[in-house]
Amino acid sequence: MKVTIVGAGNVGASCADVISYRGIASEVVLLDIKEGFAEGKAMDLMQCATNTGFNTVITGVTNDYSKTANSNVVVITSGIPRKPGMTREELIGINAGIVKTVADNVLTHSPNAIIVVVSNPMDTMTYLTLKATGLPKNRVIGMGGALDSSRFRYYLSRALDKPSNDVSAMVIGGHGDTTMIPLTRLASYNGIPVSEFLSEEELAKVAAATMVGGATLTGLLGTSAWYAPGASVAYLVDSILNDQKKMIACSVMLDGEYGQSDICIGVPCIIGKNGIEEILDITLNDAEKEKFAKSAEAVINMNEDLKSVLA
Ligand code: LAC
Repeated sequence: MKVTIVGAGNVGASCADVISYRGIASEVVLLDIKEGFAEGKAMDLMQCATNTGFNTVITGVTNDYSKTANSNVVVITSGIPRKPGMTREELIGINAGIVKTVADNVLTHSPNAIIVVVSNPMDTMTYLTLKATGLPKNRVIGMGGALDSSRFRYYLSRALDKPSNDVSAMVIGGHGDTTMIPLTRLASYNGIPVSEFLSEEELAKVAAATMVGGATLTGLLGTSAWYAPGASVAYLVDSILNDQKKMIACSVMLDGEYGQSDICIGVPCIIGKNGIEEILDITLNDAEKEKFAKSAEAVINMNEDLKSVLA
């Protein structure tokens, strides 16, 4: 199984690290436009093999898409990341052109690949990739919900003072500081609703921290986060390549689900060898429905900015 990761920056390299360490794919190609950069990252990662004991072959290439041929999954992380104080939405102008070019190049050499979009603003870049390539909607998956859900579980685990792995919770909606929707009502501590242990006020604080989870890290690090984003992509890639059929919140094209159409936004999906195998259209309460509609409106407004790129 072969995975190409376009963009050998922090997120791309962390993703390659987790994929190889966990043996998710036999081959990983890292591609970057910066001369020698992907080669260097690949070499550094390959020198971990004897210490961490993996067999994945990681190759780095400078803009040579022929080396990515016949990839089963292609991850697009290209584009500029956030700087402190920037929203993901402010990246749209620069990143749209980059993502469209990358998607075209990738499909020339891997016409059957499933594409995972990570570049921000992620929901809009996922929509762009679908529209620009004409791929069926099961083959383009936006990675945001897996990351936002892992941050939600982290903040819940801290509030509960219990391990993250005992916490089950999901974030839906847009991958933006004001558009994501942590579903506190459905969060549980090993099957027990978290409302048994946390007050409404505590839960509201957890939800608020989750929503600005990426911005908090950007403030601390001076650039956008990478370990959790990389691990979240690897988790998604694992479910695709190994046909695990995990339920993961992903940004996908909706066609009537959640009352929305012609928009990519985060909802729970079953992820397997065909990419998005099912969209779970779960029942939301009135407050959640209202939040979802507002989130969708914001994402649709952002998609308007793509008109010139898609024209
Ligand atoms: C974040 C970026 C990757 O949330 O969107 O950290």
